[in-house]
Amino acid sequence: MGSRTEETTTDVLIIGAGGAGVRAGIELARHGIDCLVLGKRAHGDAHTIWAAGGINASLGTLDPDDRWDIHAADTLKEGHFINQPEAVLTLCREAPYRVLELDEWGAAFNKAENGRINQRYFGAQSFRRTCFVGDQTGKAVLTASINEAKRLGVPYRQNIYITKILTDDTGVVGAMGVDLDTGQLTVIRARAVILAAGGHTSVYKRSSSRPDENTGDAQALALDAGATLRDMEMVQFHPTGRAWPEEEAGHLVTEAVRGEGGRLYNTGGERFMERYSPEQMELDARDVVARANYREIQEGRGTERGGVLLDISHRDADFIKERLPRMYEIHLEDGVDITKEPMEVAPTAHYAMGGVAVDFTTGATDVPGLYAVGEATSGVHGANRLGGNSLAEIFVFGKVVGAHLVETLTEHPLRPVPQQAVAAHADELSAPLERTEGPAPEALCEEIREVMWNAGGIVRREDDLLAGLAALGSLREQAATMQIDGDMTSFAFEQGRNVHCMLDAGEAILRSALERTESRGAHYRDDYPDTDPAWQRNICVHKSADGLTLSTTSVPDVPEAVKEALQENHTLDYHHLE
Ligand code: FUM
Repeated sequence: MGSRTEETTTDVLIIGAGGAGVRAGIELARHGIDCLVLGKRAHGDAHTIWAAGGINASLGTLDPDDRWDIHAADTLKEGHFINQPEAVLTLCREAPYRVLELDEWGAAFNKAENGRINQRYFGAQSFRRTCFVGDQTGKAVLTASINEAKRLGVPYRQNIYITKILTDDTGVVGAMGVDLDTGQLTVIRARAVILAAGGHTSVYKRSSSRPDENTGDAQALALDAGATLRDMEMVQFHPTGRAWPEEEAGHLVTEAVRGEGGRLYNTGGERFMERYSPEQMELDARDVVARANYREIQEGRGTERGGVLLDISHRDADFIKERLPRMYEIHLEDGVDITKEPMEVAPTAHYAMGGVAVDFTTGATDVPGLYAVGEATSGVHGANRLGGNSLAEIFVFGKVVGAHLVETLTEHPLRPVPQQAVAAHADELSAPLERTEGPAPEALCEEIREVMWNAGGIVRREDDLLAGLAALGSLREQAATMQIDGDMTSFAFEQGRNVHCMLDAGEAILRSALERTESRGAHYRDDYPDTDPAWQRNICVHKSADGLTLSTTSVPDVPEAVKEALQENHTLDYHHLE
């Protein structure tokens, strides 16, 4: 061990301190298992707090006909039947328990007149099923679970950027990274590692994430350790990101605005969703509404700032302030009173349906001792995700992976870390700091985002995808000679690591999107606009010394438990909102 490197040991290392990681930690701590949760940011500042509109659970508070299997049927339909059906079953069966648990931990969900947890409409869901805390549900549920984790004494370290999963011949032995406060290299030996480090939508120029989060860390770490990625072409574009101000562009205008009655208009005053989706209107699936907004803007019916108009001013001002307090505040800061005038919105990259392939009964990847959970993974949502299902997923599967490790941890002995790999990685981390010239990481990040937006965005074509792959190839060459002006505590260092993760995630997205010669859910190919039944398959991505390779797998059959709900063919009745 080099003198510059500190070493610690835990039984289960959890990389990522959002809802998924914290929920896994709670489960382990409840059973007396030693674990350590690492966050790349300050404690409590995880991406989960950016989730706004709600969390789905078939509680039936307002719509007693709702059932978990109808929730599952809606989820499979939204995923265009390439979701992993067992994962969907677990999600929808368990979500009500996790929501009630969060309420007990103090999440303070909005309550209906009957005292039960209130529920709002969200897109493409047959019933009001989305439980909410105003429009800051993510913050409320993360705070409640962190409080529970603190009560249980779950250990936590903040500002640690994990840059490598360490393995030996039999599997995972720990991880290595940098303490961003001190610049200290850190090795954590562990019997098992859970990747809960989120998704990769920051590879896009316009995204609802902060630019230095969701940079594909989990996917790059997993690929590098020998795990498989799946469904990487499936990137969700949320229909309503903010169109301005520039520094806020892409940030979320929650679907709750439409769930509470918000209507979309073009600059001609036309409520254009009547043309695209007369039955489900603004609450059709996110891909349908996002493409409608995109078309209106592309065809010249958008605003000067490149948006369309989202208006909820027909609703009572007090209702808007109670249900959408943050939307009200943030727009008012920019001089827009949403109780009186519309917001300007445009599609934004919002969520990665693709990610690490896991077995959903355990959270295990195909590398022994490596687990993954939450947006880091793939499979629950298939080709598109219902709004409100991501918060449900992180708590449901956080518990699943924690509970599995409680039962099986003895199968993973603590083993030494490979010193050669540690030394080689330390050299790799410090090399760009020692260069006196070379491209700067900030510029490379920006270029990757531009390439991805143009090549792998909301509408894709073969020539754009090929051009995007060529551009990423050249950026990869430049990244090998990158120069970082600063030390390991600098933001430039962090961005330098982000570049490598973004390149892996970006290439996996474009390669998979090129491979899938059809349109399905969030993946829309202008040159293959129809859905091809032969493509009801998952595309997998692997990494070898020669780079990324692809394969495909078939999707398991829909389980009997959901077939009836699918045959009943429930759909959202939009006109309840009118
Ligand atoms: O629009 C929203 O509030 C997003 C929710 C989600 O993506 O689950």
